[in-house]
Amino acid sequence: MTNAPQPEYKGPKRVFSGMQPTNGLHLGNYLGALQKFVRLQDQYECIYCVVDLHAITTGPDPENLASRCREVAAAYVAAGVDPKRSTIFVQSAVREHTELAWIFNCVARMGWVERMTQFKDKAGKDAQRSSVGLFDYPVLQAADILLYKATHVPVGEDQKQHLELSRDIAQKFNNDHDAPNFFPLPEPLIQGPGARIMSLRDGTKKMSKSDPSDMTRINLTDDADAIMSKIKKATTDPLPVPESKEGLADRAEVENLVGIFAAVTERSVDDVLGEFGGKGFGVFKPALAETLAAKLSPIAAEMRRLTADTATLDAILKEGADKARAVATPIMAEVRDVVGLWRA
Ligand code: TRP
Repeated sequence: MTNAPQPEYKGPKRVFSGMQPTNGLHLGNYLGALQKFVRLQDQYECIYCVVDLHAITTGPDPENLASRCREVAAAYVAAGVDPKRSTIFVQSAVREHTELAWIFNCVARMGWVERMTQFKDKAGKDAQRSSVGLFDYPVLQAADILLYKATHVPVGEDQKQHLELSRDIAQKFNNDHDAPNFFPLPEPLIQGPGARIMSLRDGTKKMSKSDPSDMTRINLTDDADAIMSKIKKATTDPLPVPESKEGLADRAEVENLVGIFAAVTERSVDDVLGEFGGKGFGVFKPALAETLAAKLSPIAAEMRRLTADTATLDAILKEGADKARAVATPIMAEVRDVVGLWRA
């Protein structure tokens, strides 16, 4: 697999990212994705997608799929993604995603896709029973990104391998068609505290909406009381907050709480340890809970307002799809030409 940088790419810098439509958004989604999406608007042209075609790879849910999409779109806007500056849309509204995914199916090699660890995790023991779509999921993801010739992709650590596949597909497409620099090789943007938010009860497990215990996560819709009680009951140890990063070794739960504080206040971990080092969790936890509540309450309120006002939300998504299509259509026309497809 090739990962050579492609400094010769001359196209515009553009951010693309996507989130699955889900109605259980939590702090991990906020710090790992939404907060970063908001910040990137100052530096890049940004396109943010709700990936409903990816959602159906694990099973149908026709009654709820649209409301799940609205929930994530509302979270984008409530967190601060500005639909005027950025593009917010639902994936299946722009049909070129599936068209490019098919072309990429003919570029990606079986061996490349078979290596994807997320498929192995999601498919579990009986991979033969999973959908072909679940296997093909990362190829559709490559199409999402490259349909807009996006150069930068903010994602969590767990998506790094999918991004590498996108780069390999872009590179092979360019080579196979003798079209150097046709597609950029998209780069992941992963850095910073908040890259990995863990369970409040077990610092080795990711914070997840599928954890059976609600005490393991802060939901975006939790009120201040719920946040306070979850943070107070979060697992720690009898030692105080350490004074430096070395003191976080082998204290996964403490590292997680400090990381959350740093991410939510957009400060460095060192800075947070400088303030709280040596103090007990009786001091640190209430400070963390208050900071979280202050950050999340307005977002939760705005999400509630937007999800209740579907007309406004749907208008935002329609406008977003129109903007996305305006970028995608000419690129797709170029792709069809390069591949030699019939000029219909
Ligand atoms: N697979 C991503 C996730 O689960 C979601 C996604 C789909 C995505 N298409 C994308 C992320 C394109 C970045 C770019 O988080």
